[in-house]
Amino acid sequence: MRPSREYPARMPKERMVSQAAVVREDEGDEAPQTLEIRPRALADYIGQRALVERLGIALDAAKARGETMEHVLLHGPPGLGKTTLAHVIATEMGSKAFVTSGPALTKASDLVGTLTKMEERDVLFIDEIHRLPASVEEYIYPAMEDRRIDFTLDSGMHARVVTIPLKPFTLIGATTRAGLLTQALRSRFGIAHHLEFYAHEDLVAILVRAAGIYGMQGIRGEAFDAIASRARGTPRIALRLLRRVRDFADVRAQGSADAKVVAGALRLEGIDDRGLDDLDRKYLRAVADIYRGGPVGLEAIAATLAEDAGTLEDVVEPYLLQIGFLARTRQGRRLTKPGADAIGFTLPGEPGLPGFPEQ
Ligand code: ADE
Repeated sequence: MRPSREYPARMPKERMVSQAAVVREDEGDEAPQTLEIRPRALADYIGQRALVERLGIALDAAKARGETMEHVLLHGPPGLGKTTLAHVIATEMGSKAFVTSGPALTKASDLVGTLTKMEERDVLFIDEIHRLPASVEEYIYPAMEDRRIDFTLDSGMHARVVTIPLKPFTLIGATTRAGLLTQALRSRFGIAHHLEFYAHEDLVAILVRAAGIYGMQGIRGEAFDAIASRARGTPRIALRLLRRVRDFADVRAQGSADAKVVAGALRLEGIDDRGLDDLDRKYLRAVADIYRGGPVGLEAIAATLAEDAGTLEDVVEPYLLQIGFLARTRQGRRLTKPGADAIGFTLPGEPGLPGFPEQ
């Protein structure tokens, strides 16, 4: 399976299994272009207004009382700022962030070292928390609730449980699949919030801010619009496209970027006017050509495309659903009329005629 765009390419787990299971934020190997763009203060965070307001109140209240921020669960599609918000919360609390992911924590001892090392108000960020092994999840409950971990030493007759007290910390869990979390884990978060796709004007503001940090002086307002409208409501995609436009402008247009330069740069990337890429188009084509527009099950589409079903569900489908190209029904996935029109496919039957799939 080829690595597919935003999500797997940046999943921290690969680097974490090969190195330590948990890394401190300033020791991570995140690409510098990502780090320097990230807002550090809540006031610099653009979009997700409802969440920013909730977090602002919780942070101010915690700081005023000299307490630790409550545990936070962030869910939603990849690239919308879950990791960034974890760093923002740590900065606002004047503390450090420790970063890990569910699959990197294979055994409880991966976590014990970090939890015991963390200072008061530090943040532990667990990405893909739905992939936490059950054995590790059990250690997290008392850590979250009672600030202690119970560690079993030896086994059989000699087994004894050692309780280790922890300093108050904030756990920030991120997931693309809130539905896969156990109720026991979910109920231990004081704040849970779903991140939405960003509005066009928020993406433009994020791009303007980033272009300023990158020192892109030759970029015109229309270029920001053109990038934002192809960014699928996702800052991470918008910023990646901005960097491709910057390269293209530097090499082909003496550093200046207008809508035409953006169109040229993004055509090379295989991104169409709506921001759909190769994998989106393949997905739509498979549902259309192989399954006559659906309904069809996710696993069948994944097998047809030789892609991972989870990647399709997390990365491809949310935006196709959001723009109304795809419908999820009890019978399976189905192309809508706009989705079919976008790829020049005629759905079998017409409205009102037998055989037309119900909306
Ligand atoms: N960079 C990436 N996401 C951002 C956001 N939401 N606000 C400001 N800058 C960002």
